[in-house]
Amino acid sequence: MVQEIASQPRKFCFNELRLATRNFRREDLLGMGGFGPVYKGWINESGTPPVKPGTGLAVAVKILNRYGVQGHREWLAEVHFLRNLHHQNLVKLVGYCMEGHQRLIVYEFMARGSLENHLFRSMVLPWCTRIRIALGAAQGLAYLHEEAQKPVIYRDFKASNILLDADYNAKLSDFGLARDGPEGDQTHVSTRVMGTYGYAAPEYVMTGHLTMKSDVYSFGVVLLEILSGRKAMDKSQRMGEHNLVSWAKPYLGDKHHFWRIIDTRLRGKFSKKGALKCTEIASLCLRKNPKLRPQMSEIVEMLMRLPSTSEFRDADDNSKDKHVAGNLYSPTGPNASPSSYTLSNKQKGKRPVRS
Ligand SMILES: Nc1ncnc2c1ncn2[C@@H]1O[C@H](COP(=O)(O)OP(=O)(O)OP(=O)(O)O)[C@@H](O)[C@H]1O
Ligand SMILES: [Mg+2]
Repeated sequence: MVQEIASQPRKFCFNELRLATRNFRREDLLGMGGFGPVYKGWINESGTPPVKPGTGLAVAVKILNRYGVQGHREWLAEVHFLRNLHHQNLVKLVGYCMEGHQRLIVYEFMARGSLENHLFRSMVLPWCTRIRIALGAAQGLAYLHEEAQKPVIYRDFKASNILLDADYNAKLSDFGLARDGPEGDQTHVSTRVMGTYGYAAPEYVMTGHLTMKSDVYSFGVVLLEILSGRKAMDKSQRMGEHNLVSWAKPYLGDKHHFWRIIDTRLRGKFSKKGALKCTEIASLCLRKNPKLRPQMSEIVEMLMRLPSTSEFRDADDNSKDKHVAGNLYSPTGPNASPSSYTLSNKQKGKRPVRS
């Protein structure tokens, strides 16, 4: 029987989550973030651990191990935002636990893990899947900025915070750094600079002034990662290519050279028009002046108008790529060999700028 997530998040006691994760079994560790480890677990519809382990509703249980005021604040922000925000491109909050000094969060289980795990590993994501993920993530941000009851700035938009379900639907997770957007006459929110190097907008890093357009900049960086299969910061790249944005900027929207950005592992299997348009979108998002960056809803529209959008269904099936064959592009000519690069999983290429 397929079990559904209850509409209201449940308050768990620590022992329930210990049983749900089979005592935080090492084999069920899904990943390790700055907040703490994330384990796979199972619960019944009633919220209690299933009698038979490994049955019921699969969940992801995140344990806070960054004690202190900052850790608690992030835990609280995450629970607060996720319980009030509901959209198909945001991860669902199943529940939380606050018992003594223990702080845990229970999410819906996302079968394919994070976009980061897919983009920079040996398995190659097909073009259509990449665009579908970019679109889903853009819709999630557009909801936060423009559709939620109170606008929300996400502040930590990056590949590791975009999770994928079994069908590669993208959902944003990690609301620990999210902030309410400016209200009334305010143009920005003043904050301590928090986020991740390589993704944070330069004006935010310099001034601490946070706007929706800071998220738009980060979206531009992730879009570049999706197009190129390169990390925002990657010391394993050649000198001068460590910073993805600085390296890619000269090629963005340039119809003769944009292909240099596109992941060589796609072996030319991408829509030429679509790829060029995507580099134009990235260029708009990465504009120095935040006011000149588009709104997320405009980006959603641009992504939806890309060629072959109708082929996005079943995109995880590589064979579906043949549908865009009419637009497939393989660079030719004297400069045709896109620069080669190595991808290293060890180098995460990201450093928190948390202060
Ligand atoms: N709901 C979930 N379903 C499945 N896997 C998840 C889920 N939430 C997190 N994970 C896995 O756990 C990993 C760690 O997640 P977490 O958000 O704690 O850290 P991070 O995003 O890698 O780093 P940071 O702390 O800088 O945000 C993710 O990369 C992902 O692989
Ligand atoms: Mg995260």
